[in-house]
Amino acid sequence: MSPAASPPVPRHLAVIMDGNGRWAERRRRPRVIGHRAGARAVNVCIDFCLERGIGALTLFAFSSENWGRPEEEVGALMKLFLNALDREVEELHRRQVRVRFIGDRARFSADIRARMDAAEALTAGNTRLHLVIAASYGGRQDIAFAARALATEVAAGRLRPEDIDEAALGAHVALADLPPPDLFIRTGGDHRISNFLLWQLAYTELWFTDVLWPDLDATLLQRALDDFARRERRFGLTSAQVAGGAIEDSPA
Ligand code: IPE
Ligand code: IPE
Ligand code: MG
Repeated sequence: MSPAASPPVPRHLAVIMDGNGRWAERRRRPRVIGHRAGARAVNVCIDFCLERGIGALTLFAFSSENWGRPEEEVGALMKLFLNALDREVEELHRRQVRVRFIGDRARFSADIRARMDAAEALTAGNTRLHLVIAASYGGRQDIAFAARALATEVAAGRLRPEDIDEAALGAHVALADLPPPDLFIRTGGDHRISNFLLWQLAYTELWFTDVLWPDLDATLLQRALDDFARRERRFGLTSAQVAGGAIEDSPA
């Protein structure tokens, strides 16, 4: 199957929300203040997606590696996460947002896990925006878990090793049911993926900005979308092939 052409707006936007700590440090405030301000920016981003008709939004909230931060910061982030779940989920549901979490949930406390489960159950039928929160998530871990799932199938005699291909592995990584991200945005000035969706970003358009996450606004997001609309996605083909319609318009 040929890949899908760029839609006018991304079907799926993936975001690394970076720069909370520096935002606070520049104001000589503790880092947690930056995380609190960052939580407000999440709403700016969700509102933008709802207004523009973007179907899926994946936000990197906490990486597998972030568990290694000072205990005090991890504790403050967990508290914020818990509060956000208590405060925001009803409103998201009212706005027909489906909420889902990817990552290693077992590492969270029981009260956070219970709220994640409840949020997913409450919003499961919503279709306006698919909001994915990547928490305790790592791209390498995601691929390793997919490999383990395939190995289990082989051990049980349900799959032959020679049947393992991109489609088989791709079916077991996170977000297999969504189109891959069309556009990736990272705030905070660093130009790296930091173990976000390694498999899923293979042909995603990457967009970086120095703006720190808590300073996010709709104008900045619109700039990213405008840049995205100007790009030619070739998926390994030539420009002439793309112009000749070799890339489908239908969703991948
Ligand atoms: C992103 O902001 C939020 C998390 C990783 C949880 P940072 O906390 O990484 O902020 P900087 O990069 O140190 O400024
Ligand atoms: C990536 O940011 C993870 C999140 C935004 C949740 P980091 O701040 O952890 O990434 P590095 O350490 O700069 O690569
Ligand atoms: Mg950072």
